[in-house]
Amino acid sequence: MWSPDQYTRFKAERKRPFTDLLALVEKRPRMRVADLGCGTGELTRELHETLGALETIGIDNSETMLLKSGHFENEMLRFEKGDIEAFVSDRPFDLMFSNAAFHWVADHEKLFARLTNLLSATGQLAIQMPANDDHASHRIAAEVGREFGVAERPDYVLPVERYAGLLHRLGYARQHVRMQVYGHVLPSSGDVIEWVRGALLTHYESLLGNRFDEYLDVYRTRLLAAIGDEQPFFYTYKRVLMWASF
Ligand SMILES: C[S@@+](CC[C@H](N)C(=O)[O-])C[C@H]1O[C@@H](n2cnc3c(N)ncnc32)[C@H](O)[C@@H]1O
Repeated sequence: MWSPDQYTRFKAERKRPFTDLLALVEKRPRMRVADLGCGTGELTRELHETLGALETIGIDNSETMLLKSGHFENEMLRFEKGDIEAFVSDRPFDLMFSNAAFHWVADHEKLFARLTNLLSATGQLAIQMPANDDHASHRIAAEVGREFGVAERPDYVLPVERYAGLLHRLGYARQHVRMQVYGHVLPSSGDVIEWVRGALLTHYESLLGNRFDEYLDVYRTRLLAAIGDEQPFFYTYKRVLMWASF
């Protein structure tokens, strides 16, 4: 249900947290990098080139998102279809990177422990994930979903301080964990619908099938009543960014 065209409608806005996350990473020689939930692969290439990495692998479980990843591939940068939950490797990585994907994956305590075991002795972890489920755009999506008889997207993201404790317990000597509010000036309130269609609403689309258009009509009416029909519209979006190293 992921559509690269819909997702990249707000390419510049969605890239801001990626850039902030990448800025936290310490560039070291000959790094072996994994980008988990890499999407189209465009930002994976930027990650690979900025770090001058020896080798980078991008993993994503959506065939449609990976469709054009071949354009970015080269001998040292490759993409594979796979689940983050099942990601394994027989050689350690120097960096586990993930931008805007872990909020789709359950049980972060277990996930972080597993990925930590795949890191080298000087490895780094850099994760960014949205934490905006209390915004009207997300609350109303869940509310209308319930009225249509489908389960809301589970909120897997832990309170921000839990990540600090978790990283400490996993043995990282240095860490940076923060919540950041990104403010996006969208042309109108209606554009919030286009924004969430690119990511959050894929959950409801996959569950509702041909009832999704009807869901979208109710969602649009309810959301605009809640946030007002404004031009432009200031859309606030909270995200958790974290980096840690041994
Ligand atoms: C919001 S997009 C972010 C893509 C890319 N990291 C970026 O910053 O442009 C989230 C991506 O995570 C992928 N994804 C979600 N759950 C996943 C899972 N369990 N395993 C692998 N990929 C997953 C989706 O297919 C989608 O491409």
